[in-house]
Amino acid sequence: MIGLSKRSRYAVSAIREEDLLAEKLRSEGKAIIKLNIGDPAAYFPTPKYIIDAYIEALKKGHTDYSYATGIPELRKAIAKKYRERHGADFSEDDVVVTQGVSEALQFINNSLIDPGEGAVLFTPYYAPYLSYLKLSGGEVVEGHYREEKNWDIDIDALDERLRSGKVKRHLKYLMVTNPNNPTGTVLGRKTLESLVNLSNDHDLMLISDEIYDEIVFNGANFTSIAKLAKGTPHMIIHGASKCYDSTGFRLGFVIVPGEDKASTDVKRSLRDMANLRLSSNTPAQYAIAEGLNNAAEHRKAIGEMVKRIEGQVNFAAQEINRSRFMKTAVPNGAFYIFPRLNMEKLKVKDDKEFVQKLLAEENVQLARGSGFGAKDHIRIVALADRETLSTAISRIENFCERHSKREA
Ligand SMILES: Cc1ncc(COP(=O)(O)O)c(C=O)c1O
Repeated sequence: MIGLSKRSRYAVSAIREEDLLAEKLRSEGKAIIKLNIGDPAAYFPTPKYIIDAYIEALKKGHTDYSYATGIPELRKAIAKKYRERHGADFSEDDVVVTQGVSEALQFINNSLIDPGEGAVLFTPYYAPYLSYLKLSGGEVVEGHYREEKNWDIDIDALDERLRSGKVKRHLKYLMVTNPNNPTGTVLGRKTLESLVNLSNDHDLMLISDEIYDEIVFNGANFTSIAKLAKGTPHMIIHGASKCYDSTGFRLGFVIVPGEDKASTDVKRSLRDMANLRLSSNTPAQYAIAEGLNNAAEHRKAIGEMVKRIEGQVNFAAQEINRSRFMKTAVPNGAFYIFPRLNMEKLKVKDDKEFVQKLLAEENVQLARGSGFGAKDHIRIVALADRETLSTAISRIENFCERHSKREA
């Protein structure tokens, strides 16, 4: 019998799981407010200077395979950005260009994880981290961001657990997202330093997903792991999707700065993975090299985008916190809001039922928190304008009222 692999069931996406229902509702003439996917290019046109560079690359005939690890111009531009902006020290030879961070996650897990081994993810985590880990046969060991501490990481609890001897599987890496999706938290320098120490103490490769590094606001400061982890095996994953407003280009970067044995081995393996799939999108690489090198145009574009996002996030968080059915910490990075639902006041079974019924009844599409490892939460993408966000939040509030338990 031709059957699917057992692993294939791990390819689940909480972010897109209501897409079929949304499509059906749309075909019935319903206008859906789509706040389930973090796609800036759907709200902010990709900057013209990047589009022009893409067209120019096509006209110059850059439609062939590039080097598997990416064009040198782009890898150099990434090393330059990290040197100038984040005080990191690595060369273009330490960079592998991928088809989005999504492909980078596939490469990393294929390179590091054997069936039965594990990795540390902090809940709530970006949902695909878990899927890619499990698709490689790995298992998660959960650390936690603490909601009551404004989503800071609880390092001591994880350290204690790892020292207790109760975790039997061989752990390979520890993954952190900064700024965070889904909570929008920007981690402070002290927390990041503790993570470096923790990774050293437990012999883990420290991986920092910094795809939102320039989308930081409300006075927060971003520090790259690359600045703090010199001498510790570490990797940075990043990409063009968010800060260069080009999700559809499908470009990501993996940076492995160290020269220690673990880093050197991983770098070689990532190159092997890249060779296997020949190339990432060639003209898009030229466009994003221009995006990185044209500092003046980039500053203007990202400055305007972050200003609008800051206003929208703060507005939506304030509206949400007026509700008796949900509560959120105010984010200071990325563009997500992650409210906790007050389930005691609601007649819905769980966050999954909440998002399904909300879409069907109020035509607002969100993602469920349990898909990010945090039940009783919903994730709202705050990229739409204030008017749309305001309408969506009113509809969520109507939905909650309609499904509320009667007070005794
Ligand atoms: C934390 C994080 N990492 C990676 C990605 C995926 O990025 P890419 O478009 O480069 O595959 C996302 C997308 O939402 C994300 O939020």
